[in-house]
Amino acid sequence: MPKTSIAILSLILASHALQAADTFLEKPYLQLGNSPKLAAKESLVLLWHTENTPAAWTVEVKTAKDSKWRAMAKPTSTVVSAPAGKPAVAGKNGAKKDAPASAAIDAHLVYRAHLTGLVPGGDFQYRVLNAGKPVFEASSRARKSATQAQRFVLFGDCGQKTPAENAVAYQAYLAKPDFIFIPGDIVYTSGRISEYRTNFFPQYNADEPSAEVGAPLLRSVPFIAAPGNHDTALLNYQRFPDALAYFLYWDQPLNGPDLPPTEGATHRLTGSTEAQPGFLAAAKPRYPRMANYSFDYGNAHWTVLDANTYMDWNTPALREWLQKDLASAQSATWRFVAFHQPGFNSSHHHFAEQYMRLLSPVFEANKVDVVFAGHVHNYQRSFPMTFVPKPQADGKMQSAKGEVDGDWTLDKSFGDGSTAKPKGVIYIVSGAGGAGLYDPEQQADPKSWQPFTDKFFSEVNSMSVVDIDGKVFKLRQVSSTGKELDSFRISK
Ligand SMILES: [Fe+2]
Repeated sequence: MPKTSIAILSLILASHALQAADTFLEKPYLQLGNSPKLAAKESLVLLWHTENTPAAWTVEVKTAKDSKWRAMAKPTSTVVSAPAGKPAVAGKNGAKKDAPASAAIDAHLVYRAHLTGLVPGGDFQYRVLNAGKPVFEASSRARKSATQAQRFVLFGDCGQKTPAENAVAYQAYLAKPDFIFIPGDIVYTSGRISEYRTNFFPQYNADEPSAEVGAPLLRSVPFIAAPGNHDTALLNYQRFPDALAYFLYWDQPLNGPDLPPTEGATHRLTGSTEAQPGFLAAAKPRYPRMANYSFDYGNAHWTVLDANTYMDWNTPALREWLQKDLASAQSATWRFVAFHQPGFNSSHHHFAEQYMRLLSPVFEANKVDVVFAGHVHNYQRSFPMTFVPKPQADGKMQSAKGEVDGDWTLDKSFGDGSTAKPKGVIYIVSGAGGAGLYDPEQQADPKSWQPFTDKFFSEVNSMSVVDIDGKVFKLRQVSSTGKELDSFRISK
């Protein structure tokens, strides 16, 4: 055999050995961690899951500045488990007699390693070693600095184990984003540990990219998310003690409001308390604080809100936190707000859930450029707009269903592309990331759209691909087969 063939064969064998030594329950995936601000030396958090058995894990990193592999601080681990759920009582809360409860989740370990000393915007490699032997290797890119161009992909309502989820994941992979943002409904139906294992990790951490199975995204692209109703709100702790995996498996900034668990102020556990001590120990310090937070990426500031119905954004302390967070971000070139339930939505689905539009005056006063939401399984773009809420007939600001009255002012000159300087906030619904589509018949029926809606695509699954280069923002809405549905530009 010629020497080159032997070399190639050895490479192939080495790569197979790397795969074969794999002992992960879930392979490594990257998160932002509790690092809301840009840093001269960037960091990311690498997580992975294993059986609950002792092992000597270590992680090494190699950036363009490292001549050899550099050892990271020892990874930490958290034990996660959950007892079996109790079957539903027939007839209670509409439950069916045979409604399944969750099986027990065996104790497993969630490891976290801090990847530090990263060069802003720089590519790097990392490898995970078990007892000194490399078992996993991948590459990624550190968070961009304020002077570097960036690209992110955004889609919500995705982890439903559908062919569309895989197809959108593949398109996201082809777009080569710096990070991926999910504005809620990450994992169906209830954000459970068991559902992450079947509906999320296999698709977004697939070993090979394809439209049929998904893509190796999580290992190379940090995912950032807001919690949706299917992640943290559909909670019956008695039946599903393995729910709320958002607080166990994600690692995001912890700079949100730190309020006591009073009505409307934060997430509160309900149902049986049997499984709660274990959950609270494993979710510490992320529960419930990780539901609201903010972070910077490049020259953009993001404010991420929990818009689930257990929250009441009329709560003065919450509004104060939001106001302060946005006010402190006025030096950023771009300000984005992201949450799950959209305030402005033309779909018949979820139409009455308008309560987040009560925050529009805060967004406008603080020069927010774009608000991203999901929840509604299609794509919608509003005209740039301002909104003045007004009380309902009974004096309340919202109806029991969530409807909000008020007056909007629309910038329709932006809609025809004649200007790239919008007068107001643009509201995007990008909830077509994989779950079943809503109201496909409305796409060809503009008369069914609300006056504030400029574009509406509901016949195909899709994702938003956003490029930011200094004072230019460009969004393209790309379908699950790679077709461009919509695009617009903002310049400052
Ligand atoms: Fe939702």
